[in-house]
Amino acid sequence: MKEQSVQLKIENIRKEINRLNHLYYVQNTSEVSDFEFDQMLSELQKLEQDHPEFSDDASPTKRIGGDITKKFKTVAHRYPMLSLSNTYSKEEIIDWETRLKKFTDQKIEFVCELKYDGVAIGIRYVNGKLTEAVTRGDGTKGELVTANVKTIKTIPLVLHGDFPEDFEIRGEIFFPLEKFNALNARREMEGEAVFANPRNSASGTLKLQDSKVVAERGLDCFLYGVYGTDLPMLGHFESVQKAGDWGFKIPEVQKDFIRKTDSIEGIMDFINHWDENRSTLPFEIDGVVIKVNDFSAQEELGFTAKSPRWAIAYKFKTERVLTKLNSIDFQVGRTGAITPVANLEPVNLGGTVVKRASLHNADQIEKLGLCEGDFVFVEKGGEIIPKIVGVSLEKRETERKIEYISNCPVCKTELIRREGEAHHFCPNDLECAPQIKGKIEHFISRKAMDIDGLGAETVDLLVENEIVKDAADLYSLTFDQVVRLDRMAEKSGNNLIAGIEKSKTIPFERVLYAMGIRFVGETIAKKLAKEFRNLDNLKTASFDQLVATDEIGEKIAISVQNYFLEDRNLKFIEKLEKAGLQLESIQVENSTDQLKGKIFVVSGVFSLYSRDELKALIEINGGKVASSISSKTNYVVAGENMGPSKLNKAKELNVEIIDEKIFSKMIVSQ
Ligand code: IVH
Repeated sequence: MKEQSVQLKIENIRKEINRLNHLYYVQNTSEVSDFEFDQMLSELQKLEQDHPEFSDDASPTKRIGGDITKKFKTVAHRYPMLSLSNTYSKEEIIDWETRLKKFTDQKIEFVCELKYDGVAIGIRYVNGKLTEAVTRGDGTKGELVTANVKTIKTIPLVLHGDFPEDFEIRGEIFFPLEKFNALNARREMEGEAVFANPRNSASGTLKLQDSKVVAERGLDCFLYGVYGTDLPMLGHFESVQKAGDWGFKIPEVQKDFIRKTDSIEGIMDFINHWDENRSTLPFEIDGVVIKVNDFSAQEELGFTAKSPRWAIAYKFKTERVLTKLNSIDFQVGRTGAITPVANLEPVNLGGTVVKRASLHNADQIEKLGLCEGDFVFVEKGGEIIPKIVGVSLEKRETERKIEYISNCPVCKTELIRREGEAHHFCPNDLECAPQIKGKIEHFISRKAMDIDGLGAETVDLLVENEIVKDAADLYSLTFDQVVRLDRMAEKSGNNLIAGIEKSKTIPFERVLYAMGIRFVGETIAKKLAKEFRNLDNLKTASFDQLVATDEIGEKIAISVQNYFLEDRNLKFIEKLEKAGLQLESIQVENSTDQLKGKIFVVSGVFSLYSRDELKALIEINGGKVASSISSKTNYVVAGENMGPSKLNKAKELNVEIIDEKIFSKMIVSQ
């Protein structure tokens, strides 16, 4: 390809990716499937790799992360990053308005906004390209976290429309609750310390050295102020709307995230609305911010030493209740990690009755200095279960400190605490019932072996009756053993045995995930399966080979090696092998290119193959799998229970619908 046309091609793909990205993340619509999007991104990555002379710091490939910052540079803010003065009552808001009126006799227009609970960021754009992103720091200088900020999909790398030549935009980077809770659930499962709240973890994430990890975490950002000289806008509201036109994610007027008003009543209505409804938001807010709209009025009002006179924050009172700590349960997870959970005297907190609260680990109990029968303050944040934030010393009845357990509450084995880890562990993983059950539950879960007809209660019965001792024993279960269990009838027994049998076709990468090696989640299992192809190769892989694999760091490499050093794990693998599970990836050598250039969507339930097998078959025969139907889709492989909306879409776009039998004929060698 001629240099000129490569450059043009790169530029065109960048433009298209930026456009699709904005559509998807800011406007919540999409024109292409995830697959097509990923294809475009990989094509761009490849072109940029082959042609470093056309590299660009604002290329969408920067969103994937990968840049490592060992130490963040400190830079001075061009405009000081001030804070807002806080108010807590209507009276204080009225006082503020009265003070404003002394400056002007004209009617004041206000803009009410949410006060996002995250970390402030200032982002500079020069000629429409993101050049630097700086944290608040001490207000006069902050840290340069550009590479990390570029991974946030709602922050445009390149602007469109009529933007100022050189300006700074400020906003709040936050952790969407769904992402935050998922991250904590994963950390909990992997025996790592959980994050205390979304704000702190947003702040911690922004300062991670590896921008790839930042990219995975899924931070988000709302913009709230444009700074620069000779800005064309006359007021704050207009400037926010303009930022929307340039490609930023801005608060939506329709959702009442931002509102213009010229009265105290309007302001109070906004405050009351969000005080009542904030729990419905997918992110945390800690109040609202009220700003004078007009820029010339803002200028006239000016600043005090710490904050602007033209804006004020109204902080919500955090809902906090006092209740008695009745007892503490120590739960044992599948990895043996112990999690203390407080049993509370039931109490109403923001409309729900709270009976339990998370205590996370021994350090947390120590920090709170909990004594038996203490009265504790409970708050609800973004987490799924509420947390204890303090103790009432006035109501303390005894000085008897709560002692952390030293032995497993179930099997009584002495607990261990590894250096640098937050949790205590029960090391008796072979005999400790909750660990055995937890491991089996993980093994059979949907993303692992997906065994139909087997639920947590049946696992409990199988373990308690000592019919199975580990997940591999499931494969030697007989119908007679199963049907004798409580609440098992002939039909459910048959279903269970059939479900176990069917799981033998589950691909290697999921078997690897199901095995429950510490730190080997779904994604890591996929990477390992792809790289090492079978369990034997993985077993004998050297540390250097492991860490040379994409996304595998030292911690995972050590964990994988340790796993294969344990005799009992080798015995477990032997049983899986005997049972006939897939311990190697489908061989690519058998591949053909019969489906080359064809894009498939797979939907519904199949009898000849599992959905994953179908997808693997499409790919090894040269086809592509997309997640949603578009005009580019060639075939929809439809199984039973395919949703009517997909069916209609396929018909509407004239996409050929085939069943698994027709599909299997397409791939027989000619
Ligand atoms: S305006 C001069 N608007 O709250 C400061 N700030 O103490 C102008 N914040 O550090 C800030 N949501 O990080 C503004 N809608 C919003 C905000 C907001 C959250 C944060 C901001 C600032 C702190 C104020």
